[in-house]
Amino acid sequence: MSRTNPVNRRIVLNSRPVGAPTAENFRLEELALPVPAAGQVLLRTLYLSLDPYMRGRMSDAPSYAAPVAVGEVMVGGTVSRVEASRHPDYQPGDVVVGYSGWQEYAVSDGTGLTRLDARMTHPSLALGVLGMPGFTAYMGLLDIGQPKAGETVVVAAASGAVGSVVGQVARLKGCRVVGIAGNADKCRFAVEELGFDACIDRRSAELPRHLALACPEGIDVYFESVGGAVFDAVLPLLNVHARVPLCGMIAHYNDSGLPQGPDRLGLLTRTLLTRRIRMQGFIIFDDYGHRYGEFHQQLSAWLAEGRIRYREDIVDGLENAPGAFIGLLEGRNFGKLVVRIAPA
Ligand SMILES: NC(=O)c1ccc[n+]([C@@H]2O[C@H](COP(=O)([O-])OP(=O)(O)OC[C@H]3O[C@@H](n4cnc5c(N)ncnc54)[C@H](OP(=O)(O)O)[C@@H]3O)[C@@H](O)[C@H]2O)c1
Repeated sequence: MSRTNPVNRRIVLNSRPVGAPTAENFRLEELALPVPAAGQVLLRTLYLSLDPYMRGRMSDAPSYAAPVAVGEVMVGGTVSRVEASRHPDYQPGDVVVGYSGWQEYAVSDGTGLTRLDARMTHPSLALGVLGMPGFTAYMGLLDIGQPKAGETVVVAAASGAVGSVVGQVARLKGCRVVGIAGNADKCRFAVEELGFDACIDRRSAELPRHLALACPEGIDVYFESVGGAVFDAVLPLLNVHARVPLCGMIAHYNDSGLPQGPDRLGLLTRTLLTRRIRMQGFIIFDDYGHRYGEFHQQLSAWLAEGRIRYREDIVDGLENAPGAFIGLLEGRNFGKLVVRIAPA
């Protein structure tokens, strides 16, 4: 922060995308630094989380959450430092998790803020393995997927924020874990670093055959976050009484109409019926917010014991957030995508 000319740089939604977002959908603005009123804190953003759900907020199609208005700052989870406080519960220097969005500074009355443990040496983890994506993986897999030792669990976007935790937790539960990821490096990471039993490149023309070979006893749990060609390859392999936590469908987030090709709804419903498959969607904080403590305690312990590993993809500078976000929707990130906005 320059003392002579303090400004807040922020990125607002400039226009709504049609199809894949482009740089023109975002605008960088400079405003005067906000001043905290009585009962408020001034937050300086250290890390901004970039997540696939933000594509939905850029659109005004009906969804579970309100869209960002054109001209408003993009929403996003953040780790911030309290720079100035007129709030009785916060001191300058406190580090908090909140939702400041895509900007360098924000004021807050404390709503939605969680103070991080001062001993936490790596606060950006509160946006990844120890935050919303880790929580999503943990609850979706364990509560909806209900994996049992010896079963086969398949997870796509396997090297990503959610998928990497899904696969590792499934391994800890004694399952055989098969990942699907966007290239050979990501697959190698899933097997060699995360301990998956196998990982298949989703871009291979032979994805269905490779997946079938990697799952000789079929699939008992498919953690769905992709859709598209990956789901087409998974569907025929689902076993009787398989469970499918429906977490996301990133392959369709840029769709502006119904997918091309033959209508496969009948195939899907017939498969669900005849194999008695349970497929359930969930929105993490709406459905499981009350169980956050349980997740945090367990993941913190596993992380401390070295039983869960993570990988972050850190991008420097607020101005690089739009390009990094566009890349997330193309699979260019490798690990949890985080923008470092200021030195911690
Ligand atoms: N329901 C909830 O409450 C909730 C909460 C958090 C996240 N989610 C969902 O979980 C999913 C993963 O999120 P994340 O934060 O962990 O992201 P991430 O996996 O760290 O990054 C997104 C990944 O998606 C894959 N991808 C991108 N475009 C794709 C396409 N057209 N077809 C197939 N794969 C594609 C890419 O991985 P590869 O290159 O390896 O394929 C990319 O790296 C998303 O669908 C997200 O919306 C849901």
